[in-house]
Amino acid sequence: MTSLLEPATNPAATTSPGHGDAFTDHLYAMSWTEQDGWHAPDLRPLANLSIHPAMLGLHYGQVIFEGMKAFRQADGSMAVFRPRQNAHRFQRSARRLAMPELAEEDFLLAVDSLVAADQHALSDDPDHSIYLRPLMYGSEANLMLRPSKTYEFLLMAFVAGGFFGDTVRPVSVFVSHEHSRAMPGGTGDVKCAANYGPSFVAQRIAQDAGCQQVVWLDSAERRWVEEMGGMNLFFVRGSGPGAEVVTPRLTGTLLPGVTRDSLLTLVERDGYRVGEERISVEQWREECATGSITEVFACGTAAVVTPVGEVVDEAGDWTIGDGGTGPVTRRLRTALVDVQHGRAPDPGGWMHHIPR
Ligand SMILES: Cc1ncc(COP(=O)(O)O)c(C=O)c1O
Repeated sequence: MTSLLEPATNPAATTSPGHGDAFTDHLYAMSWTEQDGWHAPDLRPLANLSIHPAMLGLHYGQVIFEGMKAFRQADGSMAVFRPRQNAHRFQRSARRLAMPELAEEDFLLAVDSLVAADQHALSDDPDHSIYLRPLMYGSEANLMLRPSKTYEFLLMAFVAGGFFGDTVRPVSVFVSHEHSRAMPGGTGDVKCAANYGPSFVAQRIAQDAGCQQVVWLDSAERRWVEEMGGMNLFFVRGSGPGAEVVTPRLTGTLLPGVTRDSLLTLVERDGYRVGEERISVEQWREECATGSITEVFACGTAAVVTPVGEVVDEAGDWTIGDGGTGPVTRRLRTALVDVQHGRAPDPGGWMHHIPR
């Protein structure tokens, strides 16, 4: 139920693209029906959609999405960071929402087509990238409370600068004891639109408290640290080569981030001790007070690796380390960004090179 209305304008950000509205020129689309499966792939100018007001996805939230980035390589070509991981997560999200899966090869073909068409939008600024947003929604015009019988897949892109601005500065976070992001048996471990709308109120409360981000606790006991906004969290204990780097275990209520998974590999490769464990908010506070936890950082496609400097909690506020960017955080960020830009070896074959 989509059609072209008018070509989109392209504010094609050159100096400071921000994060979210410097759209590139094209949209890749595909449709699904019970009879034909996925069909009619189409790369076309980015434009508004025309949808029926009763479109099922709009009413009942049968909507999933992904996020990944394409980077300019040293030789001028483009490569996307671990898109197969996003394709797999998109399939898991589709299964959870009773939607049809998209084959990994179809997902990659969409990525190749859009990046090849729109790579010119990316300047040579190494802090900029092309953020790719795959989206799938139930498109049937029907208000019966059941899965849609038709679906649309869209892939759009925007030029991205830093999620928290163009320089890396520690963020302050607010621990939400009132709102939960996910619950056991829910959808916290997949990427559906319905996980995000309800998070905005907690994000607003965090901002009103002077913080940039919200930290989510588990919904049963409200003490185990899960994630931060749309990012995973890591904690560093100690310093130097003997430092230990841990992240909350995947309990089914956290999103298994592609960046999280990549950092677990890089942490191990760098010789640090690495672990996945449950960390309570009391433990976080106490270990910062005793100096055991020296650094905390958040990670994700948008945030890359972002240090956390201050925590605001109902039981009192505290600072992590000296409130600045720690050496382990800095080193891991550089290691990740160097792989993404093709400046460091890629033993895991993480970079998906776009055919020229
Ligand atoms: C809730 C949530 N947690 C973590 C992440 C980080 O995941 P990734 O590293 O795959 O971007 C995201 C972003 O996708 C997210 O939305």
